[in-house]
Amino acid sequence: MPSDTSHPWWHTGVIYQIYPRSFNDSTGNGVGDLGGVIDKLDYLSETLDVDALWLSPFYPSPMADFGYDVADFTDVHPLFGDLETFDRLVAEAHTRGLKVIVDFVPNHSSDQHAWFVESRSSRDNPRRDWYVWQNPRPDGDPPNNWLSVFGGPAWTFDEATGQYYLHSFLKEQPDLNWRNPAVREAMFDAMRFWLDRGVDGFRIDVAHFIMKDPMMRDNPLNPSPDGDFYKPMGEYDSQIHLYNKGHEDIHDVFRELRRIVDTYPDERPRMTVGEIHLFDWAEWARYYGDDLDELHMPFNFSLLHADRNAAALRRLVDQLEAALPPGAWPNYVLGNHDEPRLASRYGEAGSRLAAMLLLTLRGTPTLYYGDELGMRQADIPPDQQQDPWGRRVPGLGRDGCRTPMAWTDEPGAGFTTAPTPWLPLHDDYAARNVTRQRQDPASLLNLYRRLLALRKTAPALQTGAYRLLDDAPDDCYVFVRESDTQRLVVALNFSDAPQRITLPSPGRLLVSTNPDRDEEAVGETLALDGHEGVILTRAEGD
Ligand code: GLC
Repeated sequence: MPSDTSHPWWHTGVIYQIYPRSFNDSTGNGVGDLGGVIDKLDYLSETLDVDALWLSPFYPSPMADFGYDVADFTDVHPLFGDLETFDRLVAEAHTRGLKVIVDFVPNHSSDQHAWFVESRSSRDNPRRDWYVWQNPRPDGDPPNNWLSVFGGPAWTFDEATGQYYLHSFLKEQPDLNWRNPAVREAMFDAMRFWLDRGVDGFRIDVAHFIMKDPMMRDNPLNPSPDGDFYKPMGEYDSQIHLYNKGHEDIHDVFRELRRIVDTYPDERPRMTVGEIHLFDWAEWARYYGDDLDELHMPFNFSLLHADRNAAALRRLVDQLEAALPPGAWPNYVLGNHDEPRLASRYGEAGSRLAAMLLLTLRGTPTLYYGDELGMRQADIPPDQQQDPWGRRVPGLGRDGCRTPMAWTDEPGAGFTTAPTPWLPLHDDYAARNVTRQRQDPASLLNLYRRLLALRKTAPALQTGAYRLLDDAPDDCYVFVRESDTQRLVVALNFSDAPQRITLPSPGRLLVSTNPDRDEEAVGETLALDGHEGVILTRAEGD
């Protein structure tokens, strides 16, 4: 029930990310699937009441990178179901008013994709140029110094044809050559295939990687120990990644992609959100397009990596708001399938504050499955680790945030009836699961439900302006969200100590992270407990 029809659904809505392997297993083989997602749609539309689900890849894949190595861009891996299951998922989601966003992986395919099998078969195969092939240097070394994000060189030598191919990630994920018009057309056709099946949007994997320096110059060496990524990346940090991604003509591709998405009917606007790990705001903002004609949104990961204190968060939101081109819509992310779990970064009380922050800032929030329960980063024993990144570069494994969703306290956590799920269950699943938390009014899940319910009906939170209240105590982050008809104050105390905040006017609490405080009247001074956050409305008659 969006209250402002002048905004498209992806402005007012909340996106929920599902990692299909880990959400719900309907076949009893220990791996989640699309049938399992269908069985849980009521959880999304009723228990949580989110607006859209984003499915990480479910395409045919040898699973070298758990589905981000796609062997066919227009089909479903039998592990997850088939196209008929997918169509049913879309239909059932739409019946409940839920949008469906699918992952689109344009930078690379699997090395098992028929295109690459042809491409590597001989130098004169018509698909040779669909991937990035280069001759060795005279001494036999790779053509340049580019590195794979997942460790080692970004080039693998193909003995049979005597050339190297480029892979920005695993060698099982060769990079497609987006400068070849036939590749563009084939990939745009793949998008049309899913648009025609009714999907409402795409999350575009490593969107800033698809265009590289056409001269293939060496990356400069990095004089500082910190990389240009957001976390230590080992050997990858030894270079400044100037030439292996984000070449200027990338913006032409996104303009073209946007034109295609925009040909779909106005009454059901489709959207694109790009995975873009750029932390230079000006560079990042360019992906909206000079005339807002590229991606609807580049994901904003800054909150994910920000220091967890009021000053850092105030600064970050100010920077974002200042960087947005006129008319561009912001968004925030606090967890995903590549990052350590939110609850492990923020702690118990901090997770409640984080939930309130994510669901009250101006912009589209994306929630990661299980974060609404406070699922922790799991410690996966080395012999059970699955993620190829972690197996290549110890410490960078992502299995810990991908463990199965905890639905119940039964063996298998209600996720699977198989004796062994593909990744181990959390050790605290018997206490931390959907069934338990639904029954406990003080649970994190019920806080998310209250926040989501408020957001659904509050125009100030959906589309209202954002204004910082800068006279708040240093440890508190206090801001106003204001629409024509509503003004709300959000006050978040990031310290252990109680704090007192002077309000612009007396108010009434709508939601507190401390459940027993809801609906309390407040004068001009608001007292907050340590790590408490509240949302206030104006007192009646004010
Ligand atoms: C993106 C995905 C990640 C994947 C990588 C390579 O970063 O989020 O999971 O491993 O791309 O496709």
